Amino acid sequence: MNHFNKPINRLNISSIKWDYIKKNEYHFEKTKKDTILPFWVADSDYMTAKPILDALTSRVKNGTFGYTYIDHEYLTIVKDWVWRKYHYEIENNWIITSPGVVTALFFAVSALTTKEANIIVQSPVYNPFYSVITNNNRRIVENKLIANENTYEMDFENLETRLKEGAEMLILCNPHNPVGRVWTAAEIKKVVDLCKQYQCLLVSDEIHCDLVFKEHPFTSVGQFFDVYDQMILCTAPSKTFNIAGLMTSNIIIKDKKLREKFVHELAIRSLQEPNVLGLEACKAAYTKCDDWLEAQIEHIHQNANKVYRYFKKNIPNARIAKLEGTYLMWIDMRFMKLTSKELVSGLLDYGILVNSGAMYGTDYDGFIRFNIACSQQQLQAGLEIIGKFVAEYK
Ligand SMILES: Cc1ncc(COP(=O)(O)O)c(C=O)c1O
Repeated sequence: MNHFNKPINRLNISSIKWDYIKKNEYHFEKTKKDTILPFWVADSDYMTAKPILDALTSRVKNGTFGYTYIDHEYLTIVKDWVWRKYHYEIENNWIITSPGVVTALFFAVSALTTKEANIIVQSPVYNPFYSVITNNNRRIVENKLIANENTYEMDFENLETRLKEGAEMLILCNPHNPVGRVWTAAEIKKVVDLCKQYQCLLVSDEIHCDLVFKEHPFTSVGQFFDVYDQMILCTAPSKTFNIAGLMTSNIIIKDKKLREKFVHELAIRSLQEPNVLGLEACKAAYTKCDDWLEAQIEHIHQNANKVYRYFKKNIPNARIAKLEGTYLMWIDMRFMKLTSKELVSGLLDYGILVNSGAMYGTDYDGFIRFNIACSQQQLQAGLEIIGKFVAEYK
């Protein structure tokens, strides 16, 4: 059986996606169902790759888990990965590890912008993009994506206006969670050029960069480091290899001054020490898992096609943003005239949990985000539940 279709049990391992449902805002206790299928949190419902399991097992067998450091081998592996996959060259000392990308976003904002600075985000977008700004007492400046029939684009005109007004930072999401765009090389170049022109720091969250479909090759801002170096590139093996709980991400900063400020911010909060198992997993992921990754992308592609087919046949009034990358589908259910909260709690009563579209920006009530990183069987069950909910809704 295809690795990605093998049933696995994620219950009772303190998984946020599976076990935390009971505690979240949707009050699982109030639903009629004993089992809820989760299509919310962005991790995957299949096992990670065997080389990663082997590397972790071997490290666990050593039996000691004392403090560790980022060694030359680790840095070289990350450097070789970005060169081999995305064709940009970096130096080992540009890489800083952080427990997570959100942690890095928070500290990039606090270390590199001034109090009450304007920071641009392009909504709808992953909700912590907003909180890392407000929790640092900076101001959110929205550059809303332009919605077309089944895809989104950046509003470059408004972006330029916002930059002219003096934004200190733009936080880019590429691939873009939740609308599933993989920005093209031309789009990324335009963003970099505009940031350079208006001297705005560019933070690029590229956590989903490895999960892109063939027709949508990924362009990193790292390919433009020679044009502009005031950029903070955030990447991680966590989404790609389903190892987010190992708390290891890689932040790439070319400019020495920026890097020193960022490292200082992590250091004064004692967040510099890496996770011993996270490092092992990342090394194995970036050296031994290319085939596994390719198979996973094919699996996600097939799952996305399954979703399109099901909706076309059964829920044709919904609009699904075309998925170019990530495993997160963005579905416009406004034809039902329900708020996202009503959609989420209604679906929960029918046995599935999805994310509320309203989390990702003010104009997205009536949307849901649907995570398709699971077996085809689980996906089919989820789709049938959505179909039943829509059919029975009066
Ligand atoms: C765009 C984006 N950035 C960051 C994260 C979380 O990253 P981390 O767990 O490394 O903080 C997610 C998780 O869903 C995400 O979608």
